[in-house]
Amino acid sequence: MNVLVTGGAGYIGSHAVKHLREQGHHVVVLDNLHRGHRAALDAIEQASGKHVPFEELDLRHTEAVTSALVHHKIDCVMHFAALAYVGESVTEPLTYYDNNTAGTLSLLQAMHDAGVRRLVFSSTCATYGEPASMPIVETMPQSPINPYGWSKLFVERILIDYANANKDFAFAALRYFNVAGSAADGTIGEDHEPETHLIPIILEVALGQREHVTIFGEDYDTPDGTCIRDYIHVEDLVAAHSMVMQKLNPADQRFYNLGIGQGYSVKQIVDAAREVTGRDIPAQMGPRRPGDPPSLYANADKLRTEVGWTPSYTDIHRVIETAWRWYRNHPDGYAQP
Ligand code: UFG
Repeated sequence: MNVLVTGGAGYIGSHAVKHLREQGHHVVVLDNLHRGHRAALDAIEQASGKHVPFEELDLRHTEAVTSALVHHKIDCVMHFAALAYVGESVTEPLTYYDNNTAGTLSLLQAMHDAGVRRLVFSSTCATYGEPASMPIVETMPQSPINPYGWSKLFVERILIDYANANKDFAFAALRYFNVAGSAADGTIGEDHEPETHLIPIILEVALGQREHVTIFGEDYDTPDGTCIRDYIHVEDLVAAHSMVMQKLNPADQRFYNLGIGQGYSVKQIVDAAREVTGRDIPAQMGPRRPGDPPSLYANADKLRTEVGWTPSYTDIHRVIETAWRWYRNHPDGYAQP
């Protein structure tokens, strides 16, 4: 298939590009390089010896996106391009609605004009807000507690309405839990500026780039008092995308949780990273971070049953190992040292 990957120079998007190419698809990357890395695409090119077609474009430029879809004869769009910092979305809501919601609206218009009829959309477990019970199943009420979650939930709604009006259109919205790890072959990895995610921060401590990790709250109603999250390896995550893409039939409107269905506490993650790295990793207790639900983990049965997906990484140590390999070999991320 000819697949356009939006946000293909970002962390998850670049892993999708690599995976889809390995599956034999023809992949074109669209990215505005706001937070993505041209160097991630260079690394994929270098490792594979094959050019990565790249359109440096912003999704909100509808006509240019339409031309790219037509020019590359795209069959399906995988849409990763988005801003994804919960805290930033609270202080800059308009930026989030503009990038994530209006950006997707523009993409949909471009797909409509170009006659592209399949979309796999990166949604988030943040659309559930603070669910009343765990694990989360897809049918639970969605009530986000921050603009990031709303910016994605609005898109889910728009997709339903668009699909209802256009029966030859099909989409899947995949609600991610906590994505972690790096390509097992070490070619690409995670590089955020600023870095706010737990595992990268812990590994920066292991590398000596930070003095300690602050654990945000130890008075939650969880077994060890720290927050519980469902960490899914990025390669398992992108594999699910390509499996779902293959299954999409006209008029499909699919929604899936994308997690492994198992939660780890912040303390468990720190301990696992100490074991994997063999380093001290000093941790300090700090106050709760506003907006953090105590516990979030998926019931991922729907994806397993309907699509046949199973995660290959179910041990957090193995997830951290892949991230650690990347950080040790790329202590400055994609930047030239
Ligand atoms: N945490 C710490 N210290 C840190 C960083 C994080 O204790 O320095 C804790 C957080 O409080 C949280 C857990 O580690 O309990 C994971 O935090 P991350 O920032 O790595 O991830 P989040 O769960 O906050 O966010 C992720 C995605 C978001 C998505 C959200 C859904 O990154 O895009 O899940 O809740 F919206």
